[in-house]
Amino acid sequence: MVAVDEIYFLRNIWYHAMPSHELKPGKMMAKVLLNEPVLFGRTKGGKAFAMRDICPHRAVPLSCGWFDGEQVQCCYHGWRFASNGQCTEIPSLMEDQQMDLNRFNVQSYEVREVQGNIWIYMPDPDRNKAKSSTLDVPRVPGFADDVKPNITYTMRFPCYIDHAVVGLMDPAHSPFVHRSWWWRGGDLNPEIKWFDPSLLGFTMRKHRMGNMGRGYWLIGGVPDNEIIFYLPGVRTEETTTAKYRAVNLTTVTPLTDDQTDVTFELYWDIPWGSLLKPILPAMICSFLGQDRDVVIKQQEGLKYEKVLRLIKDSDTPARWYYQLKNEYRRSQEENREFVSPVKTQQLKWLA
Ligand code: FES
Ligand SMILES: [Fe+2]
Repeated sequence: MVAVDEIYFLRNIWYHAMPSHELKPGKMMAKVLLNEPVLFGRTKGGKAFAMRDICPHRAVPLSCGWFDGEQVQCCYHGWRFASNGQCTEIPSLMEDQQMDLNRFNVQSYEVREVQGNIWIYMPDPDRNKAKSSTLDVPRVPGFADDVKPNITYTMRFPCYIDHAVVGLMDPAHSPFVHRSWWWRGGDLNPEIKWFDPSLLGFTMRKHRMGNMGRGYWLIGGVPDNEIIFYLPGVRTEETTTAKYRAVNLTTVTPLTDDQTDVTFELYWDIPWGSLLKPILPAMICSFLGQDRDVVIKQQEGLKYEKVLRLIKDSDTPARWYYQLKNEYRRSQEENREFVSPVKTQQLKWLA
């Protein structure tokens, strides 16, 4: 049984912020992440940055002000901040009024951009518990850092992050939730898969795909498939044939206690893959929409019920998620190494 009335976000870890193309040079964009107002920007030179979206003077959101491609200026009294959050100017000061402007720096966030995505490191808001990043940002296996996704699609789920993540890794819902003519019918087939612990998560061991959805013939031959999940909510599914590779990266990022962004991206090295581009967004929208719709229904029930009964084996990945999250939080609090709660195991289910 899992009690779901406690809400917390993991800290001192990388979250997916947005696909790179959403942040244009010389522009800024406000977003709430983990209940914190964050101002993203990209300098004219192309460097992405992030800072707290609150002016330290009198708390007006900096996103209400101006950005000249280098510095952000507050709309209330014109205080200016460099992209690293440093306060560089207070216009009302006379020349003989010297002041240490560093006292008014805005909190900045570490940001990294790889494979067409912007990642943000969310430290613990308690300064004594904040740690700098030691782990690298998530990467899609088998693709270079400068490769961009061929498709990106973000859908907002009106729920707490855990329900979006658990829905993503739940192997038993497909025949009931994802009933599309292009995906698969409603028959239940046996699945037997090996799972291994991996960095901050687990891996469904690479296997030859038997129970294929109808869409997979598109990449040629019977593919191998490997799924990796890790905290705080990142999943890669790699599908390879002798000729081609396609990877789906799905990220889950909490905005608030009950708003979560799920971003679905596809990377491929299939030469004729661009032919798929016109039809894929509608398919992804329909697929993710099915997951979101059932989560919306679940929200109704969760108003009255705070306990989930998770069964072996089909809910084992969900149980691992709760255990992984709990262990990450405790290892941070206790200032010790993370010890994976996942053990190598074979799981069986019908789906
Ligand atoms: S509130 Fe931002 S400059 Fe005064
Ligand atoms: Fe689903």
